[in-house]
Amino acid sequence: GEYAGLGEVSGKRVLVRSDLNVPLDGTTITDDGRIRASVPTIKALADAGARVVVTAHLGRPKGAPDPAYSLAPVASRLSELLGQEVAFATDTVGDSAKAVVGALEDGQVALLENVRFNAGETSKNDAERGAFADQLAALADAFVSDGFGVVHRKQASVYDVAQRLPHAMGALVKTEVDVLRRLTVDPERPYVVVLGGSKVSDKLGVIDNLLGKADRLLIGGGMVFTFLKAQGHEVGNSLLEEDQVQTCLDYLARAQETGVDIVLPTDVVVADSFGDEASARPVPADAIPADTLGLDIGPDSAAAFAAALADARTVFWNGPMGVFEVPAFAAGTRAVAEALTRIDGLSVVGGGDSAAAVRTLGFDEATFGHISTGGGASLEYLEGKDLPGITVLEG
Ligand code: 3PG
Repeated sequence: GEYAGLGEVSGKRVLVRSDLNVPLDGTTITDDGRIRASVPTIKALADAGARVVVTAHLGRPKGAPDPAYSLAPVASRLSELLGQEVAFATDTVGDSAKAVVGALEDGQVALLENVRFNAGETSKNDAERGAFADQLAALADAFVSDGFGVVHRKQASVYDVAQRLPHAMGALVKTEVDVLRRLTVDPERPYVVVLGGSKVSDKLGVIDNLLGKADRLLIGGGMVFTFLKAQGHEVGNSLLEEDQVQTCLDYLARAQETGVDIVLPTDVVVADSFGDEASARPVPADAIPADTLGLDIGPDSAAAFAAALADARTVFWNGPMGVFEVPAFAAGTRAVAEALTRIDGLSVVGGGDSAAAVRTLGFDEATFGHISTGGGASLEYLEGKDLPGITVLEG
């Protein structure tokens, strides 16, 4: 059988970089979305007769083995989803990996232990990364890049290995890039972007870029409070990035100039302490009591956000509106998710926390246009940044 651009793969060892970085509670996977998204490419290769060697990371271990970050639970789940055994190597490029890969027969699948147990993977030193990429490349005859969530990382298993083996773009990366391109090249209007999450500083690039492109920008989550502060309001004990207040002021001014409508919450749900459900109550955004902290957008704002989304033809949403894991602070995130399910056009949920949120809140994934597997990667794409894991495939 053949695989996109690689030609005949039957009998060949194909290294697949997947993003299997899933949230774990101990060894229990709490959201397997990324594993499910990785299955089609692995299955297509196995069905084509390849000997499939999957490599991936989990969390951010410090370049050495750490049992808390083992991919072993992921191997079991991948095996269930594939409906075939997944051989698990207890190291990435060592004796176990060599033995497991050497024993693969055509159509069989192996998963290597967390690639970030090796310092070379994330090294900023090209030679160190290259040396590790050499070891990875020695395990395979070809490389398929399918970990969309990591294509913004210039790391050995994402970038350098592609320079060492015949390579192709996997089906997941292709789908993700196609959808994101529709957001950046002539999006159908109104184009509404919803941004949440805790920090403004994580979203600077994307806000910069969107101020010239989106029609409306709805802002929720922890980053709200830095904007409220910029508007001269007190935010109590809420999350605040003092050093970004001026930036927020500049954004508000630029939005006026470019005609982009920035929608901020007019009310927020506060509590006396983090996660304290009993004390949860809505207050006006310009009257947050000093001894409380905001943990969700309020009900008026949730309704206003839903209304601002109602006529949208293109939507991108990244970042929860509040601490959605706690029921008393989930309503804002739920309202935005619900509004997205009703979009007549393209609705994209951008990765990480927001993707996990729609699933843990019980929404049917099929009611969204696209749920990206990439958080940081989709944001960097929208910023117009060069994604090393994509450009390396073009070279
Ligand atoms: C993610 O979770 O966004 C990706 O798996 C990338 O992980 P990283 O931010 O640790 O590189």
